[in-house]
Amino acid sequence: MNKQNDKNIVWQETLITPQDRERICRQKGVVIWFTGLSGSGKSTIARCLEKWLIEKKCMACLLDGDNIRHGLNRDLGFSIEARRENIRRIAEVARLFADCGVICLVALISPLIEMRKMAREIIGEGRFIEVAVMASLSTCEHRDPKRLYERARAGAIHDFTGISSPYEMPPAPTLVLNTEECTVDECADRVWTHLVNASVIVRKGVR
Ligand SMILES: Nc1ncnc2c1ncn2[C@@H]1O[C@H](COP(=O)(O)OP(=O)(O)O)[C@@H](O)[C@H]1O
Ligand SMILES: [Mg+2]
Repeated sequence: MNKQNDKNIVWQETLITPQDRERICRQKGVVIWFTGLSGSGKSTIARCLEKWLIEKKCMACLLDGDNIRHGLNRDLGFSIEARRENIRRIAEVARLFADCGVICLVALISPLIEMRKMAREIIGEGRFIEVAVMASLSTCEHRDPKRLYERARAGAIHDFTGISSPYEMPPAPTLVLNTEECTVDECADRVWTHLVNASVIVRKGVR
């Protein structure tokens, strides 16, 4: 955006505050950011949790990195720069959902600490819930649900996280889900329990 545009674009305040929205919707808008290697279980857990939340009449949506790359981010590749832009856009969209009072689940490799830090800054410290979905590289490669590791090892995919592109563990995530030790339901339940304990869901009888 050039300076001229910048000056001519004025932020428009709304008539409803986040507190009004929370009181009326009986939940807080937050972003649950699932990070981990491909095949670690991000999409599987996020889908399960989204279904539970909707069944309990909580407003929730899922932004899955793979799906967003079919539309909004179809122009982006997998270089570090493109991944950073992928994450920036998804964080901006997630922020809009959180502003609307929705529990927004993001399932995205988001490989580097600095990229997740940027997402946290866009979304806001108090409503960014970082969830590390953990499984060893060999487990992920063994699962290989989309046959991507096989193709990456064969040299058909470049910049593949864990093989030819780096992944940095979150040093202090809100939750760690070890998908080698816990079932999908147990992992989803850990996040659910956190949402209830942290009063993200403020309805009575949601347990
Ligand atoms: N506890 C678990 N949590 C999540 N996925 C699991 C778990 N145990 C086994 N899996 C399997 O691991 C694979 C994870 O794939 P997926 O959710 O697509 O990973 P990601 O979105 O992280 O790339 C699926 O085939 C899933 O059935
Ligand atoms: Mg996935």
